[in-house]
Amino acid sequence: MRSNFGSRLGMVLASAGSAVGLGNIWRFPTEAGRNGGAAFILLYIACVLLLAMPVMIGEFVIGRASRANTVDSYRVLAPGKPWVVTGFIGVIGGFLVLSYYSVVAGWTLDYTVVSFSASLMKPMDYGEYFNSFIQNPSRQVLAMAAFMAVTHFVVARGVEKGIERFSKILMPLLFAIILLLMFFSLNMPGAVRGLEFLFKPDFSKVTIQVVLSAMGQAFFTLSVGIGCLATYASYFSDDTPLVRTALNVCVIDSLVAISAGLIIFPAVFSVDGVQADVGPGLVFITLPGVFNSAFGSYPLVNYIFSSLFYMLLFLAALTSSISMHEICTAYISETFHTERPVAARIVTAICLAMGSVCSLSFGILSSVHVMGMGFFDLFDYLVAKFCMPLGGMLICTFVGWDLKHSTVREQLNSRITPLLMFLFRWVAPIGIGTVFVYELMDK
Ligand code: TRP
Repeated sequence: MRSNFGSRLGMVLASAGSAVGLGNIWRFPTEAGRNGGAAFILLYIACVLLLAMPVMIGEFVIGRASRANTVDSYRVLAPGKPWVVTGFIGVIGGFLVLSYYSVVAGWTLDYTVVSFSASLMKPMDYGEYFNSFIQNPSRQVLAMAAFMAVTHFVVARGVEKGIERFSKILMPLLFAIILLLMFFSLNMPGAVRGLEFLFKPDFSKVTIQVVLSAMGQAFFTLSVGIGCLATYASYFSDDTPLVRTALNVCVIDSLVAISAGLIIFPAVFSVDGVQADVGPGLVFITLPGVFNSAFGSYPLVNYIFSSLFYMLLFLAALTSSISMHEICTAYISETFHTERPVAARIVTAICLAMGSVCSLSFGILSSVHVMGMGFFDLFDYLVAKFCMPLGGMLICTFVGWDLKHSTVREQLNSRITPLLMFLFRWVAPIGIGTVFVYELMDK
């Protein structure tokens, strides 16, 4: 007997929880800031609608039609055909992404603890603080392992009692924190300049590279391409409307991403002399300094703001890492017929080992390079530039060309099925394929 989500709300919140993560709060503002603000946002929306959302709907169809983990789903739907490779790309991608995602998620956990203890409140060189933090082997591994342990705890409890129950608590909490922080931020002195930075389109910055970034961002933030949402959809009930659910998840995810921009940039522009387009260090180096003085004369507000912000990052990362873990746990438990807690332990053990290597690649392993990259960058490269686009392309091609048309129609049960078929067959594979080839040549 396979488990299922108990309620429609739980199912939407779990899927949205998978989508909403570091990709929204850490990566999106950075990318938008670097790539021309609103011009990037427009491209990103186009990529979501034309490329990433079809993959999401395709994953939903595959998951619910097969009711199996991402490898077995192809064995059920296309027995004896090579499509099962898509499932393996997914499981390998799941292990890789969880391993390096937990490193950054560990930083958010560490920063949450440190900011609650008020020790980030004294003025200091935050760049140096961050650099010595990521080079400290024991603290790195400990933060990553602590985060992995929390993820393990939730996944081991099962779909309904673990994933669904925690999503139902964590997601509303997350939305509440976002609203509160947005209220603080939009009342800061730099609010108008922050909004301008985020929303004024600068089309002169749009290059082919920006288009590639927009697609990468769309895929990562929606968790598509490696069977994450297919696994969740295998627990959906039969009457769940797939197209509407996908639309809900995309809207929630994009709203959270834009809200994150509305929280971060007004704060950044409220402090003189701070650069907004600094890249990945923004959240861990620039923001602690900003938090110290954003509300100059109200240290308590600064304290609450910064503590809640890192807690927000941590919670968002947690609901995402749960979904990555679930790809692998569902696969292992169903393939080797092991109990769920045992399967979860195997996944956690493997990811702890790979995650340690990633987390040490900023310090003592920094001189070890594979394909010219440290382990952290290598894993990121393999997932974002390889597994996700290749998987996404194969998923759309499979649903568009190979899966029985009646199955697709029955699963979608929507008036826009012909439009979606056109996206599955032509737009998504060609669009994603073009970007994929470009990125491989770029390397
Ligand atoms: N979407 C999540 C984020 O924005 C990350 C994520 C969860 C993910 N599951 C995934 C990324 C599967 C790639 C594949 O942070």
